[in-house]
Amino acid sequence: MGNTIVVIGAQWGDEGKGKIVDLLAEQVQAVVRFQGGHNAGHTLVIDGEETILHLVPSGILHKGVRCFIGNGVVLSPRALLDEINMLERKGIPAQDKLHVSEGCVLLLPHHILLDHAREQARGAAAIGTTGRGIGPAYEDKVARRALRLCDLADRDAFADKLKETLDLHNFMLKNYYRSDTADYAQTLDEILGLAEQISPMAADVTGMLYEIRQSGGNILFEGAQGTLLDVDHGTYPFVTSSNTTTGSAATGSGVAPGNFDYVLGITKAYTTRVGSGPFPTELTGTDGALLREKGQEFGATTGRPRRCGWFDAVASKRSVQLNGLSGICITKLDVLDGLDRVKICSGYRVNGKTRTVPVAGEMEHCEPVYEEMPGWQDVTRGMTDFSALPANARAYLKRIEDLCEAPIAMVSTGPDRSETIMMENPLVQSITN
Ligand code: GDP
Ligand code: IMO
Ligand code: MG
Repeated sequence: MGNTIVVIGAQWGDEGKGKIVDLLAEQVQAVVRFQGGHNAGHTLVIDGEETILHLVPSGILHKGVRCFIGNGVVLSPRALLDEINMLERKGIPAQDKLHVSEGCVLLLPHHILLDHAREQARGAAAIGTTGRGIGPAYEDKVARRALRLCDLADRDAFADKLKETLDLHNFMLKNYYRSDTADYAQTLDEILGLAEQISPMAADVTGMLYEIRQSGGNILFEGAQGTLLDVDHGTYPFVTSSNTTTGSAATGSGVAPGNFDYVLGITKAYTTRVGSGPFPTELTGTDGALLREKGQEFGATTGRPRRCGWFDAVASKRSVQLNGLSGICITKLDVLDGLDRVKICSGYRVNGKTRTVPVAGEMEHCEPVYEEMPGWQDVTRGMTDFSALPANARAYLKRIEDLCEAPIAMVSTGPDRSETIMMENPLVQSITN
């Protein structure tokens, strides 16, 4: 039986999941996306060359790795084909290696129009979505009116279903939001055209993953977004529209929950968030600007500047609990090089009380309680050996480990695949668990 590992964002997304998935992918036969859509932006850097992926799993650069898009993903045919073309121009045979679940909900142009119209209507209360139509596509799924990849097999029935759903959404767009509508004939034409290229990739992903695992292949599940953006457990309503936590790897791929051997949570050595919503440790002044500058904190999907702040151990500990993290990977340690002091939030002060767990609805009002530690002046960038890290950096990591109550398995010291310290190989570890 093969081993399975789930990689989850433990903060508000952009923790460096893509880099770590790409690195671990050399030990697996399959990489699977199971939720979200092209709102994700996962950056891979190999020998200085950068590739940004949105829908295609981050194992695509490895020759022997097959990539899967599970039923839990909302799939924009246009975004997928644009990404495949980008990869094929780089000489990567993406289409041949990619298998897409027939159960994937199709994300269509009217979802994008609705996303924009809703954000505009919210005004100052806007969520700050990526504008990719993710929320409206998931709404259609739970309302049981979504079009799925398998629906493309019967073009006439597809045309009828599209008409029904577009009539509804165009009514809202025109009469409630007073915004642009989607043209039925144009949408149908576009999707049926793209279907020629998409349909050959349609597959029984559940069955294929079952076979791979049975025949001894290792499988890596690649989370998108992060735990605090989970629609149930995140900072609602400032969240994305899918479950981003471990359980979603099962429902979004059709692999049974008991079959996951190791869950790796990715977190930065500090915290970032893009979009609106509570962020207790946010630094709004020059300290935040310094982190943004040093960490190059600009969104991989929208280019928006990311909000930056200190490491939040209260939120991260909840992430350990929610995801059942077997180990943590701390990324971007190098960004903290050269600071005199570093801070970790170990409690939230709300209404005169200090809490060590986040409470729904209170995050907006809490004051972070900080532990301050001395920083380090040496350069950690590119280091691959834990014992060679400055003593203060090791002490900082140790304190994070203690507060979060999970072992640190890996530390990332730069964007490149090679700039990584592996203290515990999650795939070897999962065999012995
Ligand atoms: P993801 O969405 O979780 O895959 O993360 P993103 O790709 O959106 O953002 C992470 C950014 O940090 C990317 O630009 C990465 O190249 C970069 N990165 C990842 N790990 C490190 C690291 O250890 N140090 C530095 N300096 N940059 C890193
Ligand atoms: P990766 O996979 C960071 C955020 C948006 C917004 C909220 C809802 O690269 O970590 P949506 O478009 O999903 O309806 O937006 O979620 N968001 C992300 N933030 N990283 C991401 O993905 C994100 N995907 C969505 O900024 O606050
Ligand atoms: Mg990202």
